Amino acid sequence: MKLAISGKGGVGKTTLAALLAQYYADAGRQVLAVDADPSPCLAGALGFPPELREMLHPIAEMDALIEERTGAKPGTIGGFFTINPRVDDIPERFSVLYKGVRLLEMGSVDTGGSGCICPEAAMLKTLFMHLLFREEDILILDMYAGVEHLGRATVDFVDAMLIVVEPTRRSIGTAAQIKQLANDIGLTRLWMVGNKVRNAEEAEFLETNSPGLPLLGWLPADLGVQEADRLGIPVYEYVPALRQSTSKMAVDLLKE
Ligand SMILES: Nc1ncnc2c1ncn2[C@@H]1O[C@H](COP(=O)(O)OP(=O)(O)O)[C@@H](O)[C@H]1O
Ligand SMILES: [Mg+2]
Repeated sequence: MKLAISGKGGVGKTTLAALLAQYYADAGRQVLAVDADPSPCLAGALGFPPELREMLHPIAEMDALIEERTGAKPGTIGGFFTINPRVDDIPERFSVLYKGVRLLEMGSVDTGGSGCICPEAAMLKTLFMHLLFREEDILILDMYAGVEHLGRATVDFVDAMLIVVEPTRRSIGTAAQIKQLANDIGLTRLWMVGNKVRNAEEAEFLETNSPGLPLLGWLPADLGVQEADRLGIPVYEYVPALRQSTSKMAVDLLKE
């Protein structure tokens, strides 16, 4: 099963990605979690200890590897390089395993909105496609805000895209925009997941104001999330309430 997690910055994508990844890993599944945020922080939410975090390097920043595979130095524009470099060994070679979750950091390329054609962009794009195409038990993509960067391949291979929302009109507005963008490229298997829900009223607000997205479930607001981060403990272990809400959603996703 391949899951993409999207939503506005700060709504809790990384928190949800970490919770789902740990749930499936504990259930004995093979999990690959991919941090596709320009400033990676999934390792923190998963409670990776410092010595393992040191082993993680975003692929986009591996200049020597990019040059070896594409034939050109990152940052060069206009030269010759291969646009479909070899990437099949990358997920295993550069991911780091902790408590059953394999984590890969993608990093990002500043394309300046122009869809730049440069070696590092070719590398990331090919790797992203490879991850979508290949057989994977559970793949969880922690995306950043929009879905503009998702291509047609996403539509065919992503089993579900989860859009995280807070119980505010603004957040629901962003979810509506993401839904539109996703629908534009043909992605229709979309779910809304509420986060930072403080009471029944807020949960109901999500139900009644959903922009036509089914509500998969919601996670309560809990100060433990920040505490876990400070203490370097996985949210999944430290905050039972979030673990419980996640389990139900994780099981429902498998039924789809
Ligand atoms: N259920 C929650 N209750 C309280 N704080 C939360 C909750 N979920 C996330 N947070 C906090 O919100 C902030 C953003 O969460 P994060 O998962 O990093 O969002 P995103 O990946 O969407 O930017 C973090 O400081 C996190 O501790
Ligand atoms: Mg994040």
